[in-house]
Amino acid sequence: MTVLSVDSLTFGYSADHMIFNEASVRIHQSDRLGLWAMNGTGKTTFLKIITGLLKPDSGRIVFNGKERQSEKSFHDLRLNLGFVLQHSEDQLFFPEVIEDVAFGPLNQGFSRQEALKKAEEILEQLHLQHLKHAISSELSGGQKKMVALASVLAMDPKMLLLDEPTAGLDVQTRLCVINLLKELSVPWILVSHDPALLSETCNRFITIDQYQFHEMTAPQVHQHEHAHFFGTLEHHHD
Ligand SMILES: Nc1ncnc2c1ncn2[C@@H]1O[C@H](COP(=O)(O)OP(=O)(O)O)[C@@H](O)[C@H]1O
Ligand SMILES: [Mg+2]
Repeated sequence: MTVLSVDSLTFGYSADHMIFNEASVRIHQSDRLGLWAMNGTGKTTFLKIITGLLKPDSGRIVFNGKERQSEKSFHDLRLNLGFVLQHSEDQLFFPEVIEDVAFGPLNQGFSRQEALKKAEEILEQLHLQHLKHAISSELSGGQKKMVALASVLAMDPKMLLLDEPTAGLDVQTRLCVINLLKELSVPWILVSHDPALLSETCNRFITIDQYQFHEMTAPQVHQHEHAHFFGTLEHHHD
């Protein structure tokens, strides 16, 4: 079953800065789609177009069986398509964590009591209940990312968009995010430069080249032999 289809998408920031030219891609219910491409090729732009934050010059976006064009239709889409932004501080508005996490369900029409209950449940599920009354702006980068994920998952989204969810995270939080993703059963588009993350969590891979999407084979984690002086002493490679 197709959850999201993007057909013949054309978009440029200006006449001489084309980003997509007749680009098409379909995401199915079983897809955990990894999007890997060079910096500046339009990954974030693509996620913004899908969520109606940027208007394409032409093309067709169908989500959950409905064509999305009007602002109202994108409003409905955003209630069902969870977007985890690259910079979590752009996603957290309220002083208290619980308010940020309850915001989505409130928007979906749940009562305040129901929304708070959903927020508490998801915080517990992600082992974040101790942060319930923490001040969002005072959290560490990793904690902000986890709270941003919680705020999106509280909406029980039909699909997820994740923009470089592990960029800048420490090893432990990165593992938390990977383990969380592995437990989810929603289709997603995961934008990342981290081949190991992609190969561990995704089952389909695309890239952007020449203003269009292209399927790729899975990245393979493998070892290389190399030689240097003092190699027998304990050392690190960054
Ligand atoms: N609001 C904007 N106005 C003009 N150019 C932009 C804007 N946002 C992004 N760009 C440019 O469009 C290109 C694609 O950006 P982006 O989608 O953020 O790339 P990626 O996420 O793949 O690194 C880049 O060259 C970027 O500088
Ligand atoms: Mg980006």
